[in-house]
Amino acid sequence: MIEFRNFSFKYKNGEKNALSGINLSINKGDFVGVIGNSGAGKSTFTYAVNGVIPHHFEGDFYGEVIVNGEDTVEASPSKLALSVGSVFQDIDGQMVASVVEDELLFGLENFGVPHNEIETRISDILKMVGIEDLRYRNISTLSGGQKQKVAISAVVALMPDILVLDEPTAELDPQSSHQIFSMLRMLNEKMGITIIVVEQKIMLLSEFSKRLLIFNEGNIYLDGSPQEVLKDTSKLQEIGVNCPRVASLANILKDRKLYSGEVPVNIDGAEVMVRSIIK
Ligand SMILES: Nc1ncnc2c1ncn2[C@@H]1O[C@H](COP(=O)(O)OP(=O)(O)OP(=O)(O)O)[C@@H](O)[C@H]1O
Ligand SMILES: [Mg+2]
Repeated sequence: MIEFRNFSFKYKNGEKNALSGINLSINKGDFVGVIGNSGAGKSTFTYAVNGVIPHHFEGDFYGEVIVNGEDTVEASPSKLALSVGSVFQDIDGQMVASVVEDELLFGLENFGVPHNEIETRISDILKMVGIEDLRYRNISTLSGGQKQKVAISAVVALMPDILVLDEPTAELDPQSSHQIFSMLRMLNEKMGITIIVVEQKIMLLSEFSKRLLIFNEGNIYLDGSPQEVLKDTSKLQEIGVNCPRVASLANILKDRKLYSGEVPVNIDGAEVMVRSIIK
């Protein structure tokens, strides 16, 4: 449902391609985690999915990006916004209203959702993500994690097929970050929304993603399930990406022939690994 065909992009004022020769398809319902160094092209990748490139940033666009059957160059930004919802790291910058309910209302009215449908949409989404109690709160009084939940709810209320998030937990503590990812998993599983999330915390990404994309210098360096991508610690170190500690430990134990199972991507997996070794 998302297809990159030989896609390259160079920003108007850029010195070199921000992304080069990207070929990729992402299936409906996938949960894709994106990681890589600063300047690797992660944000550029999200802009290519949601149409910010080419509709907002000028530059040299090569190849094709097809989202839900639409060529992003030809589709209008408003049409693309119907299928792709976007969430960013700057939590306050993406809020438009002062009260939670109005934040959701604003998007729904803007997208022309019929009035008799709006109330159900708002109450359903707030209930689903477990923030009904925040409905009448002033946004400025919420915690960072609560605000980000509101921002995501406002986008999800528009029922996009795809949700693109660029470092949504950058301003959040570990516990709130985990809650945001749990919320994304629920939206992925219950509503079938395709998730594409850029995130620096690799442990979170590997725990929640079904597929990991590692970007390096404008290219896709590794692409596969977390277990596949994390099975070579040194390959990640080569480009300065840290492997989660449980995965590094598994790789060391494998090298020493003490373990031969799957690379664990969460604490439960680590426990299974340790128990199998103790046996
Ligand atoms: N508006 C712009 N104009 C010119 N060059 C840009 C622009 N935005 C990004 N670039 C360049 O494109 C390349 C990719 O940048 P991008 O923002 O996609 O990286 P990133 O992986 O998201 O990095 P970070 O982890 O720092 O957010 C970099 O070389 C960057 O300098
Ligand atoms: Mg970025």
